[in-house]
Amino acid sequence: MAKMAIYPGTFDPMTRGHEDVVHRAAATFENVLVAVAGSTGKNTVFNLERRVELASEVLADLPNVTVVPFNGLLNRFAASQGDCVLVRGLRAIGDFEYEVQLANLNRRMKPAVETIFVAASQKYQFLSSSMVREIASLDGDVSDFVHPVVNQALLSVYNTGK
Ligand code: COA
Repeated sequence: MAKMAIYPGTFDPMTRGHEDVVHRAAATFENVLVAVAGSTGKNTVFNLERRVELASEVLADLPNVTVVPFNGLLNRFAASQGDCVLVRGLRAIGDFEYEVQLANLNRRMKPAVETIFVAASQKYQFLSSSMVREIASLDGDVSDFVHPVVNQALLSVYNTGK
């Protein structure tokens, strides 16, 4: 029986939607490892170290949650962590196809690695990291969508909020 959940993602940056999934996982599993991916094929605004740093600050109040970076294949990383399950959030029907594909590919490569899905809060159905980045880059207010430390980091990157 897995006591640990791994919640993988790019987290560029972590949003309130991701936080919601972490809180749900942390209430269900003894330990949650938030695994920040280095290899995602995405051009990120924040480098891996900064994404880990920001997620760690955002989740500092959760004693059973740890944030770590990983590189390479997710299923290999998960298998190296012993008994664990992968957790992914489902926001809307649009997430379903991609998430099932990801889960099946991971299972095909490492059958021992199971993926479970958490229904994201309706409040954050519309959120995505790229939307948050776009709004911030256009001098919009994203303070409702991200933790204050992430908001500050976005303001520094885009030099907005003057
Ligand atoms: N709330 C808010 N936003 C959410 C969300 C939620 N609950 N769940 C997902 N999202 C957003 C993410 O921020 C991201 O938004 P963006 O594209 O606007 O930046 C989008 O939904 C999903 O992005 P996606 O790339 O599908 O997932 P991810 O960034 O969460 O993580 C990995 C993808 C890291 C799991 C995957 O790339 C991976 O495993 N990489 C390692 C290499 C590997 O093993 N590849 C083979 C996989 S089979």
